Amino acid sequence: MCGIVGAVGDLGPGQELVPSLVDGLRVLEYRGYDSAGVAVEIDGTLATCCRAGRLANLEESLAAEQLGPAASAASAGIGHTRWATHGPPTDGNAHPHMDSARRVAVVHNGIIENYAALRDELEAAGVTLVSDTDTEVLAHLVGSRLEAGEDLASAVAGTLRRARGYYAVAFISPSCPGLIVCARKGPPLALATWAADDSGRGAGAYLASDVLGLLPHGRQVVYLEDGDLALLEAGRVEVRGLDGKVRRREACTVEWEAEDAGLGDWPHYMLKEIHEQPDVLAQTTFERIREEAGDVVFEGNQWSDESLAGIERVQVIACGTALHAGIIGAYMVEELARVPVDVDFASEFRYRDPVLAPGTLALAVSQSGETADTLAALRLAQELGGRGGAICNVVGSTLVREVEEVILTHAGPEIGVASTKAFTAQVAAAFLLSLRLGRARGALAARTARELLGELRGLRPCMERLLSGGLLEEIRACAARFGESKGFLFLGRGVNYPVALEGALKLKEIAYVHAEGYPAGEMKHGPIALVEPGMTILAINSPGRVAEKVRSNIEQVKARGGEVISVGADAASHAIADAVLAVPECPELLSPLLNVVPLQLFAYEVARLKGCDIDKPRNLAKSVTVE
Ligand code: M6R
Repeated sequence: MCGIVGAVGDLGPGQELVPSLVDGLRVLEYRGYDSAGVAVEIDGTLATCCRAGRLANLEESLAAEQLGPAASAASAGIGHTRWATHGPPTDGNAHPHMDSARRVAVVHNGIIENYAALRDELEAAGVTLVSDTDTEVLAHLVGSRLEAGEDLASAVAGTLRRARGYYAVAFISPSCPGLIVCARKGPPLALATWAADDSGRGAGAYLASDVLGLLPHGRQVVYLEDGDLALLEAGRVEVRGLDGKVRRREACTVEWEAEDAGLGDWPHYMLKEIHEQPDVLAQTTFERIREEAGDVVFEGNQWSDESLAGIERVQVIACGTALHAGIIGAYMVEELARVPVDVDFASEFRYRDPVLAPGTLALAVSQSGETADTLAALRLAQELGGRGGAICNVVGSTLVREVEEVILTHAGPEIGVASTKAFTAQVAAAFLLSLRLGRARGALAARTARELLGELRGLRPCMERLLSGGLLEEIRACAARFGESKGFLFLGRGVNYPVALEGALKLKEIAYVHAEGYPAGEMKHGPIALVEPGMTILAINSPGRVAEKVRSNIEQVKARGGEVISVGADAASHAIADAVLAVPECPELLSPLLNVVPLQLFAYEVARLKGCDIDKPRNLAKSVTVE
């Protein structure tokens, strides 16, 4: 939700400040794309350029020199890409915002919850506010403190002490050239600084809402923590609390390369990321597998026998696609480790006064590690005595820093707003954890574990074949034939029920058509009333304990005129369906890893035929850092 960047100093040979801010915003645009803007400090004045709509609109205005011809002389700058919360996406509501005297400019990701009271107070003092945003009050409050003689850091700290809510913010002011003051409470903020080096680059610094924005500038990154305020200058950062006391923050090394976040020759990130899944599966699992021993070893001896000894129950908390992966994980943990599992939407868990049994592992699943609801639910579970664990894709994210043990998913940067490869990695990680827990508790025989791990390894070539074979043609044909259906029902049972949820979510998100995921066995309790000609049912079925039952559901749909696409490896289901998206057979417990692929591609193809903006679906943001 919103991306912010900031730059100061030398960004490298031939790298000017404003283009570098725009490059950073381009990388972060997946966080919100309602408007974009930049502000720079040039020779004692502030210049801004803000445009509603996509970043391309801002670039157009910048090309027309709207920042003025002197923009190349800027000493510090900030930028913003918006996911609107307060006020519609207009030029006037686009960040950065300034105070009336143009003493300060601010970019903000988050929500200032008491902005109305602060706004009333400012208006009573004669200040005219010009936008509908919650953010603008921050600019005026800091501006009035600067006018009263405070320096930028103390003016920002004083203002933030009065602000209720959540923020990652960055301020520049002509009164402090070459300085950015930024702060964090809630939404993430990462910083990179560098000294002059042999390549001819002078000292500089960059800030961004996530590490993707920092990758071109260095892989040594400092993550701000809640309550931190940082003074960022070329080659130097000082972190303080809002009370002014200096805080120590260590830099950590980011694994990702800048190229990992590039689109290459792919038309969309989503398609690129779907095709990365065989590698992602391998990256997340292979080095951890100990096939001989029929076990799994995690880095740093995490999830060891000792650490798992007291786990009597698991509480999964997550949102969206990560929740679907978590539900699959629940089936896996119960089957392989015989440990009871509860699963909840993080947004529900955090407000429902939950009860946690002693010995509960609170397992948060998240690609970004920054989802506000997931973090809040995890913190609550920890307060209630749960042990915090996570499956997460981002090293150094808030989630990773707040749990005792983590399984990193090694999916690489996921840019497409519709999550695909992160899901595969989360399911694979959940499988590893289930197997480890089963072995640690003596619930799973080494031989069975060995066989399962061998099957897991074998999925990579299966997935590769899926993505390079005739399936793609069949998916295109299905999208053309069924894409205009009046509705879609995705049915699955057992471990493939969450796959049905995920298939429906993908179609809704990127193709804007109504789709519902449902447990196949529940269809007769209501959704069957929707079935009639013109309704498409995707039945996900793999050989296993519920295959026959799902076949009966397919027959029930067909008897009522619904058209069925059979997805999975159950040949008998294929034989009675109107269309088939077949995947290779594998153990039922692992089948979600293959079955989800045609569903992702089906959503992609339907969205493509409809001309939807696949990587930036309307109203969505990649990382939901507000409630
Ligand atoms: O970063 P997280 O995994 O915590 O994000 C959770 C959801 O917001 C996310 O999965 C969302 O549902 C995606 N748009 C799904 O494609």
